Amino acid sequence: MCGILGYIGDQSKTVDVLLQGLTRLEYRGYDSSGIAIMQDGRSKVFKSKGKLSKLKTKVKKHSPKGLLGIGHTRWATHGDASQKNAHPHVSGGTSVVHNGIVENYLELKNELKKKGYRFYSDTDTEVIAHLIEEMSNTGLCFEDAARAAFKRIEGSYAIAVISDRDPDKVIATRKFSPLIVAKGDHENYLASDVSAILPFCKDVIYLEDGDVAILKRDEIKITDLDGNQIKRKVKSINWDPISVEKCGYRHFMMKEIFEQPRAILDTIRGRFSEETGDVYFEGLDSSFFKDVQRIVVLACGTSYHASLIGKYMIEEIAKVSVEVDIASEFRYRNPIIDSKTLAIAVSQSGETADTSEALLEAKGRGAKTLSITNVMMSKIARDSDCVIYTHAGPEIGVASTKAFTTQLIAFYLFAIYLGRIKRKLTKKQSIEMIKQAISIPQLLEITLKLNEQIKELAKEFFKYRNFLYLGRGINHPIAFEGALKLKEISYIHAEGYAAGEMKHGPIALIDEDMPVVLIAPGDGIAYKKILGNLQEVRARRGKVIFLTSDPCAQELKGIVDRVIEVPGSSYLLSPIVSIIPLQLLAYHIATYKGTDIDQPRNLAKVVTVE
Ligand code: F6R
Repeated sequence: MCGILGYIGDQSKTVDVLLQGLTRLEYRGYDSSGIAIMQDGRSKVFKSKGKLSKLKTKVKKHSPKGLLGIGHTRWATHGDASQKNAHPHVSGGTSVVHNGIVENYLELKNELKKKGYRFYSDTDTEVIAHLIEEMSNTGLCFEDAARAAFKRIEGSYAIAVISDRDPDKVIATRKFSPLIVAKGDHENYLASDVSAILPFCKDVIYLEDGDVAILKRDEIKITDLDGNQIKRKVKSINWDPISVEKCGYRHFMMKEIFEQPRAILDTIRGRFSEETGDVYFEGLDSSFFKDVQRIVVLACGTSYHASLIGKYMIEEIAKVSVEVDIASEFRYRNPIIDSKTLAIAVSQSGETADTSEALLEAKGRGAKTLSITNVMMSKIARDSDCVIYTHAGPEIGVASTKAFTTQLIAFYLFAIYLGRIKRKLTKKQSIEMIKQAISIPQLLEITLKLNEQIKELAKEFFKYRNFLYLGRGINHPIAFEGALKLKEISYIHAEGYAAGEMKHGPIALIDEDMPVVLIAPGDGIAYKKILGNLQEVRARRGKVIFLTSDPCAQELKGIVDRVIEVPGSSYLLSPIVSIIPLQLLAYHIATYKGTDIDQPRNLAKVVTVE
């Protein structure tokens, strides 16, 4: 959840690269930050509690200069959010930044304390700095001392370290936590996240668990923990650097909401034939899925909501039974899995600890595995038998938007793919379904034109303290997702329910202070039933915001308080359209409330702890 960065190369660039990179990493975690710069053979450390802007002001005052440096943005796990707990942590001439958890830190701390090391922070990271210092004091060179220390650490980590004893190197390692190194021209980089260095270089090496990277100005050497040299492939990243800029939008979230037509297009591009009705995914082999009899989907948060919709799509199109599990719960029951079960892990980041562990649990029990993720070579992608990448591009706003809709379209294409394998779909049917998918980007463009109308709506409603979202059928998870978006960024209490559940409890909440968002696209049975809910809410003087694709809904104006009219689409794809106004509603309500939209309190973009 924290972000780490390292740079070695041009003295005039170091501070800038670190601060720019940290700005791009800030979305991962942001309660404190810090950098260490190697200046005239000695590391200078700057740290600050709170937003990165505070660190920037501090660094500017001192304008440090140095060939190399490391940086960190923190989301507290061990120890509260404070300056003393911010990274880098220092011992003698060793400075360390770290993502993850040192599980044996208490044992190491006691051992180091006995040797006279003093601890200044409440973090587990500080033991790493002392350990490397201790190894160096036994006479080992920096590289050997670092490797010897890394060998002693248990847990999950990505670490970068510099040392006054050897001031021309940055050393890094990883285990269960992402870390990449990247080659520039007489300069080299390391980062926990590609987006941090995207504007500087495109050719990256994804380190494997146990790799140790030694970065010099003109060389990147990779060894194992025993010092044996290893070769790793260089990969070219095709994300556009512009995708990590705000491009004139006030917030990344708004930019990402508006990117959805393009993101959907990128996710479906080249994956179907309109002539044959076939769907293709690079790296997927149809024979792998032939004997799949059952599917379990594992995910958290917004990805979980996408998975609930994915269940409707797969069951409807491919006629394979699907269960969806909250990943953090899956491991703590005794799930029934066999070799005919396909486990699908769904994760934007591909790093979510709960989803990653659930995937491994399913794999360990004999399931075939597939992941749907947005991040190339992420842990979840690497741990699964095969991967479908959503091509949403980097998602920086903490509240997930384009990742969600691209997951939905990926599920839809996968359902067609599986339906063809299982012979549950005729060529004609799949051609028709593909056509509907192709129409989605344009429908989203039309839906996004509601922005001004939703802004007005938000102005009217932002002072309410509670919201209820109700949906039916394939749109009932949209009620969950709409409510989640609102609570995440506006801190307003919101509940999402399947509309049929209203009578079983939530109806007790309804009065004139409770806006109810009724999600009712289409004109099928779900729509008719929701009209019944509408009457029930009205009878209790609840305020109704009615989201529909029914052009006659304007006639309901006397009954509902506000109508949001979205364009009609096929039933299975309607959630992709209906979520857009709800993302916008959450965004504008949060803007009126003046909250921090891209970095809401207490949240981190990537949740790498259980
Ligand atoms: C909500 C949100 C989170 C994530 C969840 C899973 O807006 O972003 O609920 O969806 O933490 O993250 P991934 O998809 O990266 O596994």
